[in-house]
Amino acid sequence: MVSWVITGSNRGIGLGFIRKLSSDPNNIMFALTRSKTTSTALLVLESKQKNVHVLQADITDVASLREVATVVDNATGGTLDVLINNGAYLSPERGDWSLDMYEGNEDLLDEDCTNFFKVNALGVIKTINVFLPLLRKSAEKSLAKVITISAPAGDLDFNIKTDLYYFAPYALSKAAVNMVAAKYTARFKNENILFLSLSPGFVDTMGDHRGANDVQKATYSKLIEQFQAGYPDWDGKILTPEESVTAMLETVSKLTVKDSGAFISHYGDTKNWL
Ligand SMILES: NC(=O)c1ccc[n+]([C@@H]2O[C@H](COP(=O)([O-])OP(=O)(O)OC[C@H]3O[C@@H](n4cnc5c(N)ncnc54)[C@H](OP(=O)(O)O)[C@@H]3O)[C@@H](O)[C@H]2O)c1
Repeated sequence: MVSWVITGSNRGIGLGFIRKLSSDPNNIMFALTRSKTTSTALLVLESKQKNVHVLQADITDVASLREVATVVDNATGGTLDVLINNGAYLSPERGDWSLDMYEGNEDLLDEDCTNFFKVNALGVIKTINVFLPLLRKSAEKSLAKVITISAPAGDLDFNIKTDLYYFAPYALSKAAVNMVAAKYTARFKNENILFLSLSPGFVDTMGDHRGANDVQKATYSKLIEQFQAGYPDWDGKILTPEESVTAMLETVSKLTVKDSGAFISHYGDTKNWL
């Protein structure tokens, strides 16, 4: 049995991970969601798959994480093999603002950065700390893994090449969380744990983008245009959650503890972010 805890499992990429991994009966899945009542797809999956356990936790709320860790501890006999920090705050009110637009709006700069950091960086640290004792138990037998889903926006070159001046507080929070993997690697270098920051690519998590509303379509078109200008070899294809998850899991399966601390793409490199 391989045990997995995945945050933000109720939709998008997180749900993609649960769907894919639960099809293997050798996996036991602990699917974390902020609200069970709004996690219909996940609950349907739980009713069909014996190896899926839906648990409620907000990654900014340590008490809720500890409750979940106790359930995992009891179910696995005190171990955890893989933690995927997938849940993140993505929906800013000022997603189209560049940093200079905060001049004279410093309160909003504080507010936006705090909102992103609280979930995307600090929430990840809290989650890792709560599950670390279980992961260290697993590491005594084989390679335990802490995979944090980062983003192309967390890569310096990607932002510069694609003129991605907007999504600024989000990008700052993803750059910060890349350092989190490096810090844990430095601390636990001699233990059998891989800490990784992994970008999923550009993934259609708003449903089929061809069926998206006009605003969403315009956003996708603008992003595709900018990304193609920066990466002329990219075919402009947005990945489905399943495609992204398949690529990420294949990449992770090839890694060893020597790769700990890295920030890589779903293809396992530091160039092909799309
Ligand atoms: N889609 C892309 O193209 C793309 C590109 C780069 C990186 N990513 C990264 O991929 C990951 C998944 O993104 P997605 O596209 O699947 O987004 P999504 O569909 O918006 O899902 C985000 C998930 O995070 C959860 N979440 C938000 N705040 C949370 C909190 N405080 N505690 C626990 N869970 C929380 C959400 O729960 P609720 O449903 O309760 O809000 C939801 O399950 C994120 O880390 C994102 O930054 C995505």
